[in-house]
Amino acid sequence: MKQKILVTREVFDETIDFLKSRFEVESNQADRLYARDELIAKLQGKDGVQTQSSDRIDAEVLDRCPTIKAVCNTAVGYNNIDIDACTRHGVVVTNTPGVLTDSVADYSMGLIIATCRRMTEGEAYLRTGEWKGTFLKQMLGQDVHGATLGIFGFGRIGQAIARRARGFDMKIRYHSRNRAAADAERESGAVYTGKEALLHTADVVLLILPFTPDTQHFIGAKELALMKPTAVLVNMARGGIVDDAALIEALTKKTIWAAGLDVYENEPKFNPGFLALNNVVLSPHIASASTPTRKAMAMTAAKNLAAALSGQTPPNLLNPDYRKHPKA
Ligand code: 8YV
Repeated sequence: MKQKILVTREVFDETIDFLKSRFEVESNQADRLYARDELIAKLQGKDGVQTQSSDRIDAEVLDRCPTIKAVCNTAVGYNNIDIDACTRHGVVVTNTPGVLTDSVADYSMGLIIATCRRMTEGEAYLRTGEWKGTFLKQMLGQDVHGATLGIFGFGRIGQAIARRARGFDMKIRYHSRNRAAADAERESGAVYTGKEALLHTADVVLLILPFTPDTQHFIGAKELALMKPTAVLVNMARGGIVDDAALIEALTKKTIWAAGLDVYENEPKFNPGFLALNNVVLSPHIASASTPTRKAMAMTAAKNLAAALSGQTPPNLLNPDYRKHPKA
């Protein structure tokens, strides 16, 4: 008898075909967002689940879904999953690192340029018919070339952004929990810098670090006040790493010059205070949204699920200690 799995959100037909060749699949190609109780009901009797960032998997879900053996997230970030609870329940957890690195790094450079050079503001100005011709001081922005980029988080994506920024003759500083390997620093030209020094010196402060209890409001009023009044903040990581209310105040009072955001606290219910501002570029969490990358993310998660449910070690296992809690 085939094992049973749930795919919580819409994926690609090729992903479903791959999964159906191995499992009895309950999919959600209509992409209807399941409420918590509905998700728990659908997980009854399932052996595994392919999730997305919108799915919260925690101890209560696992307590009420005892047959689940694997949770495979279709994202590199996994703050939506309580890893410790999964480990205690003997449940495998995986993510999709690597396959999205370049798409997210490309998009990050795009958001840096769009924010520094007021690209979306310019388009809105034209679309509303305000543009009456060019003039010298029209929509003056900040230069990207030659500016100092400060990156918080220096994993695969942070390093890929640094390599791209080097092509823009940017001076690169980074701060992360652990110092990167010498060759990674050499390749990207990035200089390890303390948190406060980075905030003081950067023209562009970019966030691409994991969202954990330690990084909750990593950037708040105090940190924003340390930044240059001409500086730009770009959040590519997760809402919650930035105190959005403090950011709105800093943008309103011009404590910093502008911000470019792809993620928000409580997204998609982001703080409406952003809408009144013209010195913020608002993007709906699409940094990895290229067709090839999203297909690769979906297939990577599916292959993790196939490996996990056939007793193999999945390529992107996050919690090897799950083995210490064998399922009954
Ligand atoms: C996802 C992301 O697409 O991978 C991540 O961690 O944030 C994005 O690539 C996003 O989670 C939407 O599912």
